[in-house]
Amino acid sequence: MAGLPVIERYLARPRDVRALGDIERIFFQSSGTTTFESDEARAAFQERWLQRYLTHDAAHAFLAVVNPGRGDEAVAGYLVGSLDDPARASRFDDLGYFKTMAELTARYPAQLHVNIDADWRGLGVGRALVDAFCDHARAAGAPGVHVFTGRGMRNVRFYEAAGFAEAGAVAWNGHEIVMLARGLG
Ligand SMILES: CC(C)(COP(=O)(O)OP(=O)(O)OC[C@H]1O[C@@H](n2cnc3c(N)ncnc32)[C@H](O)[C@@H]1OP(=O)(O)O)[C@@H](O)C(=O)NCCC(=O)NCCS
Repeated sequence: MAGLPVIERYLARPRDVRALGDIERIFFQSSGTTTFESDEARAAFQERWLQRYLTHDAAHAFLAVVNPGRGDEAVAGYLVGSLDDPARASRFDDLGYFKTMAELTARYPAQLHVNIDADWRGLGVGRALVDAFCDHARAAGAPGVHVFTGRGMRNVRFYEAAGFAEAGAVAWNGHEIVMLARGLG
C-alpha cells in the first residue's frame, strides 16, 4: 500500500527516464487537448506547456513521488514553472496574453503548471506541490505568482483554496482565460 507522495525537486532525479515517462503520461492525461493533427502538432503542444520548462527552468520544477527509492516508485504529480516575468522573457513570446497583462505579470512574475495523476487527485498532492513552489519562489525573491486557467474551470476552486484570487481576464483562442494570482510578500 503506497503512502502519500513525497515532494522532491525535479533536479534531485537527473536523467531519470522513468520519472520523465510518468510526467509525460500525466501531462497528456490531464490536458484538455486529446487529439492532434500530426505528430509535429503534438510535439509542439508538449514543448509549449511542459518541455520548455524542464529545459530552461528545471531548477523550479517539483515532483510528487510515491514510494521514493523503492522498486515500485512512481510520479503521482508534477509542477513546472518559471520565476521570470513572462511578459518580458522572450521565450514566452508565443503566448501573446502575457504582454497584454504585463502590469500584472510584473507584480506576480512567477508562473506554474501543475498536474496530478487521476488516481491521486483530491488528496492534497496538488496543494503540496503548489506550496513547495511558492516557498521556493519566495525564497528566490519573487514578489508574486500567477496561473492562467479557463473561466469556470473546476481547478479555480483549487487555486482559491491555495491563496490565489482573480487578478484579470483576457480572451484567448475564442474563450476567456482568467489570471489567478497570489502575493508572496
Ligand atoms: C487541479 C489539480 C492540480 C488539483 O490537485 P489535487 O491534488 O487533485 O488537489 P488537492 O487535493 O490539493 O485539492 C482538492 C481540490 O482540487 C480540485 N480538484 C480535485 N479533483 C479535481 C479534478 N479531478 N479536476 C479538477 N480539479 C480537481 C478541487 O477544487 C478540489 O477541491 P474540492 O474537493 O473542494 O472539489 C488536479 O486535480 C489536476 O491535475 N486536475 C486536472 C488537470 C488540471 O486541472 N490542472 C491544472 C491546470 S491549470
